[in-house]
Amino acid sequence: MCGIVGYIGDQNATEVILNGLHRLEYRGYDSAGIAVLENGSIALRRDVGKLNRLAELLKNSPIAGNVGIGHTRWATHGVPSERNAHPHLGNTGKVVVVHNGIVENFIALKAELLSEGAVFRSDTDTETIVLLVEKFLAEGMDLISAACATLKLLQGAHGVVLFSIDEPDKIITARMGNAGGVVIGIGEGETFIASDIPAILEHTRKMVFLETHQMAVVTKKGVDVMDLDGNPVDYTVSSVAWDPVSAEKGEYRHFMQKEIHEQVRSLTDTLAGRADFERGDIYLQELNLTREKAEAIGKIFITACGTAAHAGMVGKYLIEHLAKIPVEVEIASEFRYRDPIIAENSVVLAISQSGETADTLAAMTLGKEQGATLWSIVNAIGSQAMRISDGSISMQTGPEIGVASTKAFTAPLVDLYMLAIVLADAKGLLSSETKQTLITDLAKIPGLVGECLLREKDVEEVSKKIMNAENALYLGRGIQMPIAYEGALKLKEISYIHAEGYPAGEMKHGPIALLDDDLPVVAICPQDRWHDKMISQIEQAKARGAYVIAVAEDGDEKVALLADDVLWVPHTSWLLMPVLTVIPLQILAYQIAALRGLDVDQPRNLAKSVTVE
Ligand code: M6R
Repeated sequence: MCGIVGYIGDQNATEVILNGLHRLEYRGYDSAGIAVLENGSIALRRDVGKLNRLAELLKNSPIAGNVGIGHTRWATHGVPSERNAHPHLGNTGKVVVVHNGIVENFIALKAELLSEGAVFRSDTDTETIVLLVEKFLAEGMDLISAACATLKLLQGAHGVVLFSIDEPDKIITARMGNAGGVVIGIGEGETFIASDIPAILEHTRKMVFLETHQMAVVTKKGVDVMDLDGNPVDYTVSSVAWDPVSAEKGEYRHFMQKEIHEQVRSLTDTLAGRADFERGDIYLQELNLTREKAEAIGKIFITACGTAAHAGMVGKYLIEHLAKIPVEVEIASEFRYRDPIIAENSVVLAISQSGETADTLAAMTLGKEQGATLWSIVNAIGSQAMRISDGSISMQTGPEIGVASTKAFTAPLVDLYMLAIVLADAKGLLSSETKQTLITDLAKIPGLVGECLLREKDVEEVSKKIMNAENALYLGRGIQMPIAYEGALKLKEISYIHAEGYPAGEMKHGPIALLDDDLPVVAICPQDRWHDKMISQIEQAKARGAYVIAVAEDGDEKVALLADDVLWVPHTSWLLMPVLTVIPLQILAYQIAALRGLDVDQPRNLAKSVTVE
């Protein structure tokens, strides 16, 4: 979704902001712009398309100043165009704003402003914000009061940043609800604002995260946080440990490729400090889980979107099998709009890479309102999902830039495995031998993922064979069913090949009609309790002429005889096997998209962090 960067200090704001916007490119956008305070007036540059177009514009027509704001836009109201790109200037030319979110009462506010003589120069809802601020300034308010009055009129969720030439020593920013985060970076004699940490991480690690319905007055010297009535609010300065270098592509062609290869490290980091292999124990400190609490849990609702939801589906198998706690997994955008029966002894567990996905946050809020304990498995440190949780597990994968999630899929699989062990252990369900075996299996996982990555070349041969397919069917059963969904999602989102993930047993109830020799069928078939069933699905697909690519465990002769191609993975227990079987599917999707010459890291229409409904 949209990205925001702001700066006040002694550097040239244009450079700081453009650089920050580049670091947010992965989020997806259709236009971009920057406004700086230049010699007492506001200089504005905006363009549609990629950031290099804005950079080119700025090269030909430079602007400079020490105060500025910038934005990458993902259109909601009004087509992508220069006039609809942010920042938006008011009618006086003295106030300028950038905004993430949707002004839900935009039509009513616009009608009122029009009736009072305001002129709209864009089709955006955002313009109402700057026009309202100007209206209140004209009534004699100062900038802080005008911002407060404006924000209180807005319905919906918002991240807002604005400044005025009449009060050039400050930038005002606010967060209302879950339209992405607002983070303020504290430097030495300079202060930064961003929607996401990577935009400003090269300048400072001292960050202040705004909570919902908080506003901040940002100056060169630092920040004052207040509520929307202007009352001061206490805040914490957090220290963020992410390394800016890890947000660079390095030797890889795409971030997605780099992130696929980072999974050995991200899984090692996921285990570090949590899995004690010598003592055979797991510690999930941030979860704040006691034995009493574990025993009392009646049900766990896992809620998430997209890839994160697929991780949750694997989690259901792990928790129900090991800890014997019933688990319901529901897509957050559905969960939030039904009437789930959430007893007080329930846990709502949200999984989210960004921790800012609007639907997931709304589902968490619903859980909280109904008295559930809130847990989260989140990657983005300091994100809203992490902050509102009663207990959390941080993914430890570092920033994930590619829109197609990879390392932020395997990390929660391992987190959920550890969670299942901790819950089962707390309930006294694990013998010491079983626990030891489960933890020993875990220790081998990063190395086994490394082995899968070494087989990248084998996947390449298959990628070439199916790169021109128009459709693909992914089949899996049991704990591998979500991997079929995930493999299909990866392929469709970056290669634009229509792909369906299906529970293999359902094939005969419909999808079998699709089978012919033009349809590649990817069958995920490790030697687990569903193996024989999968073999018969492969036979049925072969009998109808389909081209079958199996994902199978080393040495599986049955599969070797049946399938047209096999993507081999090493042995592990069935509970951890999803961490391995997904790797060749991530590589397959990546290679096909790269072979088709597509924009792998920023696929069309998609955004990294979906902060609107
Ligand atoms: O940030 P989140 O994990 O909450 O995001 C959820 C989905 O939007 C995300 O997983 C999406 O499906 C990815 N593009 C998948 O690769």
